[in-house]
Amino acid sequence: MSALPRHLLSTENLTLDQIESLCARAEFFLTGPPPAELKKSLLGKSIVNLFFADSTRTRISFEMAAKRLGADVVNVAVEHSSLNKGETFLDMMLNLQALGASAIVIRHPESFVLNELSRHMAIPIINAGDGNNEHPTQGLLDIFTMRRHKGELRNLQVAICGDLAHSRVARSNIHLLIKYGASVRAIAPQSLMPKDYFNGRVKTFTDMAEGIKGADVVMALRIQKERMQNEEIPNEREYFFYYGLDHQKLKHAKPDAIVMDPGPINRGVQLDSALADDPKHSVILDQVRNGVAMRMAVLEWLLKSGE
Ligand code: NCD
Repeated sequence: MSALPRHLLSTENLTLDQIESLCARAEFFLTGPPPAELKKSLLGKSIVNLFFADSTRTRISFEMAAKRLGADVVNVAVEHSSLNKGETFLDMMLNLQALGASAIVIRHPESFVLNELSRHMAIPIINAGDGNNEHPTQGLLDIFTMRRHKGELRNLQVAICGDLAHSRVARSNIHLLIKYGASVRAIAPQSLMPKDYFNGRVKTFTDMAEGIKGADVVMALRIQKERMQNEEIPNEREYFFYYGLDHQKLKHAKPDAIVMDPGPINRGVQLDSALADDPKHSVILDQVRNGVAMRMAVLEWLLKSGE
């Protein structure tokens, strides 16, 4: 596989060859070599998880992925860190590097905060979600999940609905889907639809029935209240009526459409509870399962290509 960039901050610059190799490796991890064999892969490495914003799935997924490959994991409790004593973010990173971290996984509420910082770092920085910008491993695990259920991504019709204005997950997914030649539709109320979204390379809709029509994949997104500034937060009941994904609205998609959600699911807001639990359509827990395998592939690649 061609070398990865030193850091993984975005999906935009990944090549198809690199993405294919990551998916193949994730598939290998899923279908499994014996656990004892895997443990040798990152033995002696230390991964630091540094989360400045809430997370359950992503943090634990990175931790499990690292541990399955034999690495040590250090979770930093940010509220007790020396940033509170006036240390800069970069100084903190350089200290973690000097302490022997082999890679740092960071979630941060500010968009693009890792771009400048990572230029000063010799060890890989992995973006686990920066503000409204990107969440590259989520994008990778999502397209990996689509491939496992639907095969080729080329010509796949993917509808992404909900709070696109604040969704880093959507952005990381769309960069990847466009590379593969999938057709992407974005569905949101006007107030939650970014202007000039992907320079017109994504078709935008305000009507769910129209946007979902004939889709192979429908992805629901949470209303990301914590990332909203002065915008008006929609009334949840009204929102569900127009934009909540349920069996009724899903009838407009292909009969075998899969339903995805990066989580956390707000049942009865972006997604109806019965649909979230319907094994005929919902692949939501598969996304979570596949996420560990994809993060194993990412960690291994970033940590071993520098050797
Ligand atoms: C997402 C995130 O944090 O960006 N969740 C996740 O990582 N699985 C989406 C969200 O918060 O709505």
